[in-house]
Amino acid sequence: PSQQLWGGRFTGTLDPIMTQYNESIYFDRAFYSQDIRGSVAYARANTKNGILTQQEFSEIERGFGVVSKEWEEGRFEIKPGVDEDIHTANERRLGEVIGKDIAGKLHTGRSRNDQVATDMRLWLRDQLDSLEGYLVDLLKVIAARAEKEIDAVMPGYTHLQRAQPIRWSHWMLMYASFFTSDLARLREVKARVNKCPLGCGALAGNPFNVDREAIAKELGFDGLIMNSLAGVADRDFVVETLQWGSMLMMHMSRWAEDLIIYSSGEFSFIKLADAYSTGSSLMPQKKNPDSLELLRGKSGRVFGQMAGLMMSVKGIPSTYNKDLQESVEPLLDHVKTVGDSLQIATGVLSTLSIQPENMLKSLTPDMLATDLADYLVRKGVPFRETHHISGQCVSLAEKVGKPMDQLSFEQLQGVDERFEENVMEVFDYQKSVEMRLAKGGTSRSAVMDQIEAVKKALTGG
Ligand code: ARG
Repeated sequence: PSQQLWGGRFTGTLDPIMTQYNESIYFDRAFYSQDIRGSVAYARANTKNGILTQQEFSEIERGFGVVSKEWEEGRFEIKPGVDEDIHTANERRLGEVIGKDIAGKLHTGRSRNDQVATDMRLWLRDQLDSLEGYLVDLLKVIAARAEKEIDAVMPGYTHLQRAQPIRWSHWMLMYASFFTSDLARLREVKARVNKCPLGCGALAGNPFNVDREAIAKELGFDGLIMNSLAGVADRDFVVETLQWGSMLMMHMSRWAEDLIIYSSGEFSFIKLADAYSTGSSLMPQKKNPDSLELLRGKSGRVFGQMAGLMMSVKGIPSTYNKDLQESVEPLLDHVKTVGDSLQIATGVLSTLSIQPENMLKSLTPDMLATDLADYLVRKGVPFRETHHISGQCVSLAEKVGKPMDQLSFEQLQGVDERFEENVMEVFDYQKSVEMRLAKGGTSRSAVMDQIEAVKKALTGG
């Protein structure tokens, strides 16, 4: 008979490549402690309903203490070809420690189908807590820098063409706006991850009237998956984690792209710290923003895993099918990639330096053409008309080969006589940003309001 724990009805053995193709122990060992925790809670519930005696339960608990220590100390010996997955491995080892008579009762009414879903949810719940911490750290750095560097003014862009002056802080806070939404979404995902599937059995439910509420409570779950078929079939909690992280990485990728541009010699708005840059093996002068390029690049990998998993899941008939095992590796990689990326982003942002003089030098008077139009708006001229007039001033400046603010008052009046002497005050970048007083704008007070909003979002957990 086969050595496998499901081997009773089998006479033949697996093709060696099938063994390797089927096994998940080399990655789902990541769940060793969750698997043990779940088993102890399950055994306790099976003590209350009389499947196990109190003494048998105590033995199981003690045995798992031993197994747990072996994993922690790196002494657990995986039996190749036998320990198909983490559930099999833990149960096999428990049998060796406390004897098969008692260990053999542990799995009563349970299936690896509800077991793996429980392990993954327990594991992911803790990981999402860490990711939340990293995201909060990033947002704190943005808020702190935005406050400290509120004086720096730089060009704002549309179509990567210079558009209007904005505060550097305002640019940072654009990403804070994206990231606080990511934070809110994460908190929603977490609530759905933290539901207990244990006690669903293989698919149809538990025949020993196990107290699922008690299991859920012991494991710190906030409620149950209420349909046993769903309990074992559901990998939506993985899919939505990958979707959540994909959106976050999409934001981080755009952020990285902006900073790569701003760090180029032609812009020189910022300088990356050495800690997040690397050199060239050939060109001695090079300092490359590898950290940011990796952020941008890894976002592609994250999206790919999300799309791949959705494709794997979409055609699966109800309920559990082995295809679902394919959700584990992308999940492990996703959590690691997103966690590392958040820490890198925080490191990059907290160590880069800005070069406000270069930001200022990149501002050009034509970026105030809108302000010039607005000047006439304040004198009662319809905006469509003022837009045209200001456009003519831009064109005149181009024709005479001068920046707009070097046109004489007489030249401006030649374009439209409603310009008065104080029109020259329009050509002031500080004034331009301070005009944007309405909520969400780039004036000092509007930026300070945004910083307060970010700080408030952080405590919303
Ligand atoms: N290792 C499997 C997984 O990750 C769980 C085992 C369920 N296996 C089974 N034959 N029902 O999905």
